[in-house]
Amino acid sequence: ADRYCVMGNPVAHSRSPWIHARFAELAGDLIHYGAQLVALDGFAEGVRAFSASGGRGCNVTVPFKFEAAAIADRLTDRARIAGAANTLRFEDGQIHADNTDGAGLVADIERNAGISIAGREVLLIGAGGASAGVLGPLLGAAPARLVVANRTAEKARALVDSHQALAHLADCLLQAQPIEALSGPFDIVINATASSLAGAAVPVPASVLRPGSLALDMMYGPSAAAFLAWARQHQAMPRDGLGMLVEQASEAFFHWRGIRPPSAQVLAELRALVD
Ligand code: ATR
Repeated sequence: ADRYCVMGNPVAHSRSPWIHARFAELAGDLIHYGAQLVALDGFAEGVRAFSASGGRGCNVTVPFKFEAAAIADRLTDRARIAGAANTLRFEDGQIHADNTDGAGLVADIERNAGISIAGREVLLIGAGGASAGVLGPLLGAAPARLVVANRTAEKARALVDSHQALAHLADCLLQAQPIEALSGPFDIVINATASSLAGAAVPVPASVLRPGSLALDMMYGPSAAAFLAWARQHQAMPRDGLGMLVEQASEAFFHWRGIRPPSAQVLAELRALVD
């Protein structure tokens, strides 16, 4: 069977091996997909070794997504604009990089949650790798306005500057705003920070929400709990990152295998396992 893996540090908690095994099973495809712990200074070497041993591609998780884009010979537009990659494919001795996180997020919001992004007001909280990976595809879904807010304001500004051309194409008003100056409410609020992970309070005022807003944390499990509780408290619609996880995997599977797996079914199964 063709071999794939997810590389990260840490990686033991990753659900990707389960998701891809299930995709393959349901699609009638045969792959082997493992988890590979990579030393913090050993990512490039780990990729080369896996490729040399016959691996066909890999997913990349924390903290290697920027490095994954940097070592690639070819990048898809969305990986190049994000400056980060989560999916590598090895072909003719070359590394081809893609980033499926944003497409996964958009698919989860639009298909799984049933909310159209077009014409909406969207708030993206955070300006690290997680935000960079999804901003381009979010703009591609043509919201009317997208605001990026971050604790460190200049990082939000830099992210917005590098995406202004895309925003223009999508006819979207793209702005960076300091957290103190945020004025809502927004239809869709996306937490792409590690704030819950740190046990910190949600880093934006509750005035960004109105009853019925979608409040999505890109994490899941205990890491998303604080944000989701905050959303519930303000009558917003809470959503964790499990759907995004399955949908980015589905995009990666398609990138490698040319088959679209039944992601909604796999999400329902994973939800039952996790909850
Ligand atoms: P990732 O690749 O997961 O995005 P990152 O690049 O370290 O990781 O970015 C983490 C994001 O979470 C940043 O937007 C960070 O804000 P700063 O740019 O100001 O550091 C945000 N973040 C982390 N802990 C936070 C906290 N306790 N409160 C608010 N924002 C936090």
